[in-house]
Amino acid sequence: MKKIIQSYIKFKSKFKPKNDFEFETANYNRLSLINRALNNFDKKNCRYLEIGLGDCNNYNSISLDINNKYGVDPAFDSVNNIHGVKSDEFFKNNDQTFDVIFIDGLHHYDQVLDDLKNSINSLNKNGIIFIHDMIPLNKMSQEIPRNKQKIWTGDVWKLCYNLMNSKNLKFIIANIDCGVGIVKPSDNCVLNLDFENNNLKTYEDFKTLYHLLPIKSAKDSLEFIDK
Ligand SMILES: C[S@@+](CC[C@H](N)C(=O)[O-])C[C@H]1O[C@@H](n2cnc3c(N)ncnc32)[C@H](O)[C@@H]1O
Repeated sequence: MKKIIQSYIKFKSKFKPKNDFEFETANYNRLSLINRALNNFDKKNCRYLEIGLGDCNNYNSISLDINNKYGVDPAFDSVNNIHGVKSDEFFKNNDQTFDVIFIDGLHHYDQVLDDLKNSINSLNKNGIIFIHDMIPLNKMSQEIPRNKQKIWTGDVWKLCYNLMNSKNLKFIIANIDCGVGIVKPSDNCVLNLDFENNNLKTYEDFKTLYHLLPIKSAKDSLEFIDK
């Protein structure tokens, strides 16, 4: 027994935990931004919609009553406020409006553009839209069709062109969590829907566009949400 305790103490003294995350940035993610936005609404009446649920961890962590949260994902069965259909089908039959919408479904540019258009049409006054994965990690992570990359942003980045060329709409990208787009449309917002002529095709085009993007720190992004 003595031997076991001695070897355990020896093992413990060698053990050094590896905490190699960057505290400041790792402490913020999409959830921090979304929850911050929800804080600006009356929690009793506020309505949240998430397009694309994944493992549902983000959806489940949204700080709202379950009756005020809605989800859309074809990989799920339809139960209560979860709609087990593709986003296009959901919006075709939808007559509800929302205060906060998180777009994180199929990461194909044409689909995200449709999701954004439909989200703007279903957004309440002073509502806010979040879009995940606007900054690809590298060339592979943004390729269509999806490859074996663990982190796959798809070509959501092309939507930046539309957002930067829209009228009466405020847009920034929080520089956390693969780039979280934050969109605040005004009543008379006109979304640029140019799909064919934006000349954005390759990762080289992204690199050129990158310098023009309205990328903000986590702190500035939280302020933008509150304004
Ligand atoms: C990246 S995951 C979502 C992650 C989640 N929002 C989070 O923050 O952890 C993408 C999800 O989108 C779903 N999806 C794929 N195509 C879709 C579509 N057309 N409409 C809605 N959801 C879709 C997939 O089934 C998948 O669960």
